[in-house]
Amino acid sequence: MHDFLRKLPKVELHLHIEGSLEPELMFQLAKRNNIELPYATISEAKAAYQFDDLQGFLNLYYLGMNVLRTEQDFYDLAMDYFKRARAEGVVHIDMHFDPQAHLQRDVPLNVVMAGLLRAKQEAEASLDLSVGMIMAFLRDRPADEALQVLEQAAPYWQYLDAIGLDSAERNNPPRKFQALFARAKELGLVRVAHAGEEGPADYIAEALDVLDVQRIDHGVRCLESSDVVQRLREQQVVLTVCPLSNVSLKVVEQLRDHPLPKLLAEGLKVTISSDDPAYFGGGLLTNHMACADAFGWDADLFCTLNRNAIEEAFTNEKRRAELL
Ligand code: ADE
Ligand code: ZN
Repeated sequence: MHDFLRKLPKVELHLHIEGSLEPELMFQLAKRNNIELPYATISEAKAAYQFDDLQGFLNLYYLGMNVLRTEQDFYDLAMDYFKRARAEGVVHIDMHFDPQAHLQRDVPLNVVMAGLLRAKQEAEASLDLSVGMIMAFLRDRPADEALQVLEQAAPYWQYLDAIGLDSAERNNPPRKFQALFARAKELGLVRVAHAGEEGPADYIAEALDVLDVQRIDHGVRCLESSDVVQRLREQQVVLTVCPLSNVSLKVVEQLRDHPLPKLLAEGLKVTISSDDPAYFGGGLLTNHMACADAFGWDADLFCTLNRNAIEEAFTNEKRRAELL
């Protein structure tokens, strides 16, 4: 099965490019930019990646990305991941990125966008890897800041496929960002949101009702509400489930306890993603192999999950036909 999964052309809908920053590249960029890291060695950094919850991870995630300063850094970050993913059989990635996390550090939006867009164009031209762009907003920051950043991004709206909502979920309900998502809809941008990762099932319903999202990132806690499950099933809303992320952040204790089989039994439109591969023990292939080992899934099931992702991927119909 591992060999089949390696060869399967895989599509990933939920990947934070800043969460793909491997310690090796973090050290290189720290040196290049004269930045002191809180870790003495690469292995010390890796050893620190033990989390109790989402906030514990976010603290190190925001710390790690401090090495990203120049356009070249963002290009290197993205290209490093694209090459690794392609070598594991990934053919399409919908990539979240967090502009506010860089603006806060005085890294301008044009630096972030120029680096990421150059990597995307190069991947599409030379790696046979298509890339969707999801500008994500930090839900633990003020809503008016998010709106300002979306307006500031006007020169880049044409390059965006969607906006997303991420960072600390608890006590930051979707309704806080009603105006942001309404504006994105007005601009013709698709909307997606993290919901039901650490937050309650209600947040999933609220993201659908108030933010009019097309996808739910994670969504695993939907099982706490039969109404929410019914709604997700009826509308066949895609869930971008990230198994190894959920284990690392203790959403579940171990992969064997993961609700993935239950989500499938409920008839939901499930997909598999890696979320933050540098922090959670591996990329899309590793997530697939771990599911094969934990749940004994057959090739047909993996093909169904991957087809779900292809149907939903932010790409044009020509590329979708190639992927199907
Ligand atoms: N930002 C990066 N990874 C995240 C996750 N798993 N949940 C919320 N925000 C994130
Ligand atoms: Zn995520």
